[in-house]
Amino acid sequence: ASYDMGGHDTYMHKEISEQPDAVDRVLRGRIDDRFNTVHLGGLNLDAREARGIRRVKILGCGTSYHAGLIGAGLIESLARIPADAEPASEFRYRNPVVDPDTLYIAVSQSGETYDVLAAVQELKRKGARVLGVVNVVGSAIAREADGGTYVHAGPEVCVVSTKCFTNTVVAFALLALHLGRIRDLSVAEGKRIIEGLRKLPAQISEILESEADIKKLAEEYADAKSMMFIGRVRGYPVALEASLKLKEISYIHAEAYPASELKHGPLALIEPALPTVAIVPDDELLEKNRAALEEIKARSGRILAVAHREQEKADHTIVVPKNEDELDPILMGIPLQLLAYHTALALGRDIDKPRNLAKSVTVE
Ligand code: AGP
Repeated sequence: ASYDMGGHDTYMHKEISEQPDAVDRVLRGRIDDRFNTVHLGGLNLDAREARGIRRVKILGCGTSYHAGLIGAGLIESLARIPADAEPASEFRYRNPVVDPDTLYIAVSQSGETYDVLAAVQELKRKGARVLGVVNVVGSAIAREADGGTYVHAGPEVCVVSTKCFTNTVVAFALLALHLGRIRDLSVAEGKRIIEGLRKLPAQISEILESEADIKKLAEEYADAKSMMFIGRVRGYPVALEASLKLKEISYIHAEAYPASELKHGPLALIEPALPTVAIVPDDELLEKNRAALEEIKARSGRILAVAHREQEKADHTIVVPKNEDELDPILMGIPLQLLAYHTALALGRDIDKPRNLAKSVTVE
């Protein structure tokens, strides 16, 4: 690709920096302040059909799968429709029960990932309704789907996805709000989420301004051979995505676990040489997450928290601005993109073209 790097040393850095504008783009023209809802033109799903959905199944690979996990949480909490996400390739091979009342959503930056495309084709062959949440306009998955929404992240060149992940999650928030307002989400709740969405671009800019501090932290943790990422419920997919990002570009081994699962096994790994990155939002699980930090500290583990306020059990805290609980995962992922970036930079890695990976995986 030959897009201008716009003064950045890498496409990844450029794309991380573009996120305030990218999020602004996915929101633009879609918010309806009169009914406190959103309009998504290409869904091809009328209100009656939307009310008939009994389940949502989201399919994607890698980072798009992680965005789908957050999307499923948004759809469950705002639209109260049971929703989950699954890697597209696994879904296709376990001979899934395809149900006419389930809405299937395929997620893909490139719109060309073979595993996702093949899952869409199999679903359509079985008569399912499939929507696409896709970045590249006119791509194979966008064409194959019955409708959907573009995430408008703009061209993403770096092999690892950053701005498209963020925009995909915002697109899911819009979809969840849309479905919620057709179903049981109140006008006041719709307004609360819309106000939260509108705050995102400025809050992302605020996080990006702390890059110099995050760089220092990255340099401090770059000697780790392995890292643990933990979070709960909304925070868990953030941990999964942050650990994938670190693995892809720094080649440091990383694992992601729900914080609640630590005591069921991975706690055995905790020692000073294995730092933990913990997602600790100020939400209903704050005390539970803090208890997990205590367990790690008791085993002399180093902790880097991403939180809404300083965490005393952590060795370091990256403080991010608070939004609505449902939208916090969008913001908590951003500093961890920078952490992965600066770790890889400190280790001298080829950030835009990590070894063994391709931007779009068009083979099985
Ligand atoms: C992202 O950092 C990865 N390189 C990878 O996991 C990617 O998200 C996956 O291959 C799916 O690609 P897609 O979104 O273009 O379908």
